[in-house]
Amino acid sequence: MKISIEKDYDSLSNKAANRFIELVESGKIKDIAFPTGNTPKLFYKKLVEFYKDEKVNLSGVSGFLIDEYYPIKKESKNSFNYYIEKKFFTHVKLKKKYSLDGNNPDFLAECKNYKELIEKKGGLDLVILGVGENGHIGFNEPGSEYNSRVRLVELKNSTLDINRAKYDAGKVPKYALTLGIYEIFKAKKIILLASGSSKSERIRDLFNGHISSSLPVSVLRLHSDMEVILDKEAAVLLEDQIMELIN
Ligand code: GLP
Repeated sequence: MKISIEKDYDSLSNKAANRFIELVESGKIKDIAFPTGNTPKLFYKKLVEFYKDEKVNLSGVSGFLIDEYYPIKKESKNSFNYYIEKKFFTHVKLKKKYSLDGNNPDFLAECKNYKELIEKKGGLDLVILGVGENGHIGFNEPGSEYNSRVRLVELKNSTLDINRAKYDAGKVPKYALTLGIYEIFKAKKIILLASGSSKSERIRDLFNGHISSSLPVSVLRLHSDMEVILDKEAAVLLEDQIMELIN
């Protein structure tokens, strides 16, 4: 596992954007899944700036949205589709954009199609992830099976409580569509971003302790090409020995 500990959120975002550009410019990374949430906001901002300055060409990249609430309309300001369009997709020219439609009454077909689309591509080249405070990745909540696929999930109260604050008005949907642990883990490369002390326990769990489906983020320790970009606050609970190894 490759780890970078940056001094603050700004340099974390800068690091992530530069790393992203390097990977895309290598020509090997084309099918990329993108996260939502507060953590990657500045990463997207920087990426869009780099794109406008012609520092990166994204015409070979297909973008996949990792997850979406259910039910929700794409145009809803609270949807992840809206988020990714506003923050990233509309500002850049990608080869293709794919997302889960949280408004499809046939959620089984929606998930099946997304799963098959990714399968046809031979899996994703890169998944960029945040982590939930309860250890979820995408919307794979604690208890998600390692072989879970694209599916509808019921959100935990812990997630609903936190996400309510990010949700404009009304009630946060209790369900979501998400890439499974399987699709995430099968990606050739994974980059996880975490900022702030509220993520420090989960970052500690990523390095120490049991790998368990009750803590979905912990399975990432087993991935062969995993990169973690943190700020100091998110890394605050890492043991001294780990810090010595990293530095
Ligand atoms: C959300 C999303 C995740 C995201 C996570 C952390 O609920 N489903 O994809 O990574 O929570 O979000 P944040 O970066 O706002 O802490």
